[in-house]
Amino acid sequence: MEFKESYSKNNNLQFRDALNFIKRHKKFFNEHFGEKSLKLADIGTGCGKILNDAVLNESGLNFSFVVGIDKSVDLIKKASEKYKSEKTEFLVRNIEDDWIKDEYLINFDLIFSNYTFHWIKNHEKAFENIHQMLNPGGLFCFTFFHSSVIFYIWETLINSKYTKDKSFISDFLSNICFNEDGEKILKKTLEKSGFKIIAFDDERLDFDFGPQEKFDGSLRYSNPFLQKMSDEILQKFNEDQRMIVKILNVDGKAFTFPYRIFQVIAQKL
Ligand SMILES: C[S@@+](CC[C@H](N)C(=O)[O-])C[C@H]1O[C@@H](n2cnc3c(N)ncnc32)[C@H](O)[C@@H]1O
Repeated sequence: MEFKESYSKNNNLQFRDALNFIKRHKKFFNEHFGEKSLKLADIGTGCGKILNDAVLNESGLNFSFVVGIDKSVDLIKKASEKYKSEKTEFLVRNIEDDWIKDEYLINFDLIFSNYTFHWIKNHEKAFENIHQMLNPGGLFCFTFFHSSVIFYIWETLINSKYTKDKSFISDFLSNICFNEDGEKILKKTLEKSGFKIIAFDDERLDFDFGPQEKFDGSLRYSNPFLQKMSDEILQKFNEDQRMIVKILNVDGKAFTFPYRIFQVIAQKL
């Protein structure tokens, strides 16, 4: 799944949720770290906006070194152009790879990650890498997308009418997504990798993607099903999608969807 630059114009939901996560736990973060100068990494940083506007600007913490990591060359280039500074770096790395022997990427106090781990298949490897990056006692804080009805709408449409683009949720998303035991699996995998769970917030939220142009744009750039479709087919797909959404939304909020996320704070033992 490749994210492109256009994702950065359509990540209001991701920004809102990162900000709420930080605000909810701000007191804890400040008590935990105090005035200490921290080394911070953001995994799956994308365009760097959430790292800059939510973590750096809103956490109230003091950072001496910051690195944004992403497997997308395109997005790391954009993030560097906009946010690179004396203390902020951006690097192309895949968190599921064996790159961690990199001496540069050790001794972190805080590792943050927003809306990235549901795209990851090998959580054991990713958590092992993050564990090695952290100092003992360091925190790994992440938002994990669990599920939303909208994915079923896409999958149903694609596999009934747009069969040329046939695809399944499981081809893209982690098997923790949509799993009734998702919380249990995620906690167990973290604990097996040497983390203690400090907080596990199971959030059931909704988001208004309206108006219509915003809805079409947001969905195109934040999901893997639609990215390869031509503009012409996507237009038809969006019309069908809107028709279904209209039927489902009885209270007149035509572009509002429910979804579920886990927001987790884990500590390296
Ligand atoms: C939905 S975007 C989230 C971007 C940003 N954190 C935000 O909240 O807006 C997911 C990002 O994770 C990156 N990503 C996915 N799998 C990755 C992996 N295995 N290693 C590093 N980055 C990854 C993608 O390239 C993408 O930029």
